[in-house]
Amino acid sequence: MHQTFDGKIAVVTGAASGIGHTVAHYLAERGARIVGVDLNEAVGELMTELPGRGHHGIVKDLTVPAAAGEAITETVSRVGVPQILVNSAGLALLDPAVDVTPERWQLTLDVNLNGTFYMAQAAGRVMLDAGYGRIINLASQAALVGLDQHAAYCASKAAIVGLTHVLSLEWARRGITVNAVSPTVVETPLGKAAWAGEKGEKAKSEIPVGRFAQPEEVAALIGFIASDDAAMITGSNYVIDGGFTTV
Ligand SMILES: NC(=O)c1ccc[n+]([C@@H]2O[C@H](COP(=O)([O-])OP(=O)(O)OC[C@H]3O[C@@H](n4cnc5c(N)ncnc54)[C@H](O)[C@@H]3O)[C@@H](O)[C@H]2O)c1
Repeated sequence: MHQTFDGKIAVVTGAASGIGHTVAHYLAERGARIVGVDLNEAVGELMTELPGRGHHGIVKDLTVPAAAGEAITETVSRVGVPQILVNSAGLALLDPAVDVTPERWQLTLDVNLNGTFYMAQAAGRVMLDAGYGRIINLASQAALVGLDQHAAYCASKAAIVGLTHVLSLEWARRGITVNAVSPTVVETPLGKAAWAGEKGEKAKSEIPVGRFAQPEEVAALIGFIASDDAAMITGSNYVIDGGFTTV
């Protein structure tokens, strides 16, 4: 069945780029009003360019714990209570484990893990009152397997899967599903920077399908999990990796 998101409000973090922007477009094309939250000040303008109308951009640094609550308060007052949250804001700072500085370790956890938690908590509060919600957290294949120079990134993504389990358990009887999505390398600015050149070609050759993922493929999976049809799916981590982690 063709998914429709008519009447739905979706908060998408990291909506100015990559997977977040593609998910925002996917949901907007199918009727949702999008609230994009991003550090990038272009997010407001980018939201006005999405299909449909009534979208809104909020500039926030999600490493600040209070930012999530502020973003959800602004969402509720300017657009309405959201039914969908997609946590896509993230970064990948790559270093050999012996060289990781406290600053780069902390920033990775602050954006990838803490930002995801505080957004889920803030959105969860209004979704619990409404008795309906779909929360999708971007984890990664890095949650499941070790990747060279990804100590902080892998730790942050594995933690997102653990967090997803707990939120799904606590909120399952209240109409809210919480799932994680774990792509292999996706051809976005983040993916291209982390997997450029020879390293990228080698990584591709190790993926059974022989290529990286496109953001549209990740958006389609997220779109299904965000739909009314996916009410029985919660607490899962959906791998979308061309077979990489299972061979
Ligand atoms: N691209 C990949 O290969 C890949 C693979 C697996 C998982 N992921 C995950 O998917 C998510 C999206 O990745 P992407 O490839 O679209 O990255 P991207 O770099 O294209 O986009 C990330 C967005 O997050 C925003 N952001 C970063 N720090 C922020 C902060 N402190 N506050 C608010 N916004 C902030 C950026 O401004 C950017 O718009 C990330 O969580 C990433 O870890 C990506």
